[in-house]
Amino acid sequence: MTIKERKTKNKRDKIKVCLIGAGRAGMIHARNFTASIPDAEIAGVSDTDGTEAQRAAAELGAAYWYEDYSEAIMKCNADAVVIATPTKYHCEIAIMAAAHGMHIFCEKPMAMNEEECERMFRAAEENGVILQVGFMRRFDAGFVKAKKMVDEGEIGDVVMIKSLTRGPSTPHEWMYDIKKSNGPLAEVNSHDIDTLRWFSGSEPERIYAVGGNFRCRDAAEQYPDFYDTVLLNIKMKNGVIGCIEGAQGVGYGYDARLEVLGTRGVIKVGSLKEDTVISCSAGSGIHSDAVKSWRNLFEQAYLEEDKFFIQCIQNGSKPAPDGRDGKMAVAVVRAGNESINTGKVIKLVM
Ligand SMILES: NC(=O)c1ccc[n+]([C@@H]2O[C@H](COP(=O)([O-])OP(=O)(O)OC[C@H]3O[C@@H](n4cnc5c(N)ncnc54)[C@H](O)[C@@H]3O)[C@@H](O)[C@H]2O)c1
Repeated sequence: MTIKERKTKNKRDKIKVCLIGAGRAGMIHARNFTASIPDAEIAGVSDTDGTEAQRAAAELGAAYWYEDYSEAIMKCNADAVVIATPTKYHCEIAIMAAAHGMHIFCEKPMAMNEEECERMFRAAEENGVILQVGFMRRFDAGFVKAKKMVDEGEIGDVVMIKSLTRGPSTPHEWMYDIKKSNGPLAEVNSHDIDTLRWFSGSEPERIYAVGGNFRCRDAAEQYPDFYDTVLLNIKMKNGVIGCIEGAQGVGYGYDARLEVLGTRGVIKVGSLKEDTVISCSAGSGIHSDAVKSWRNLFEQAYLEEDKFFIQCIQNGSKPAPDGRDGKMAVAVVRAGNESINTGKVIKLVM
């Protein structure tokens, strides 16, 4: 299908999506498009692991599977791509998809650096396609409610924002090399960074971060820069102060919480508890299950962001969060890593 044919496509036709990267995040989106969004379908799957690509295509009812993403973009006749590969491939895939007139949903972190992000959103703009970035917390009912309360002045003016994300498992080995992965600030805390910008309504100005490796000791010798725990302080241009905390391998569960302090009150979002059930027994005392995974906690938010992506394509409306939001989160990640390495406060000039 040419770009022109795609743009004049009958509005009643389903939006055909090509999944690139059929791993954990990719399959969440692909299953949403297949099972819960009647206006969309998965046309093809690409994964460098051919067995995974084939398995995913069979599960999703996709006609085609490929090991090479460029073949997928050229041949599977899709209107859009979902990019859920490791971050270092996001830029090249997005640029090729845009050049072929395909709308882009790109998982966070958007790319490895700000220059890649700019190339991505410029390619999208030049080719008239949508580029949405996977900050699904913006679609989570609790976060949306809290933001509405802030906007309606419920807690006065925002003064301080604290956002934390801690993951249960230790990272994949490729993440140990901070130069290649941008580390936990990118993989874990991109969401917190976006939340800070969203709730403060402002852009980051100054950043100071510290990190340490406390649980991944096996990686310490070969990767002395690797940190599994991080604290990042941030001053926004409008004066709001923020604190982001991240950790990997905590074991106890998936922990994502937000606190917004205002001049007249406080709003808290998130809980360590999986549900409202609490038990108490003579032997083990009070017990409540912790949230196990981001997949459970944000299940509905992933679906809402996927629905929104399809609606934007159908209506020709602007996506949010977009490539510029993605770029700002990447800028903070890089400044944070620089601060950890140098011990300095980093001023962002953007
Ligand atoms: N929004 C979220 O909450 C969230 C959660 C998890 C992961 N992510 C992001 O999604 C992306 C993928 O993470 P994941 O945890 O799903 O990883 P994963 O390792 O589970 O899956 C990645 C898949 O991509 C495939 N792949 C690698 N290179 C490829 C290429 N060049 N072309 C096609 N396929 C390729 C791999 O074989 C693998 O199947 C990362 O950017 C990550 O940060 C976002």
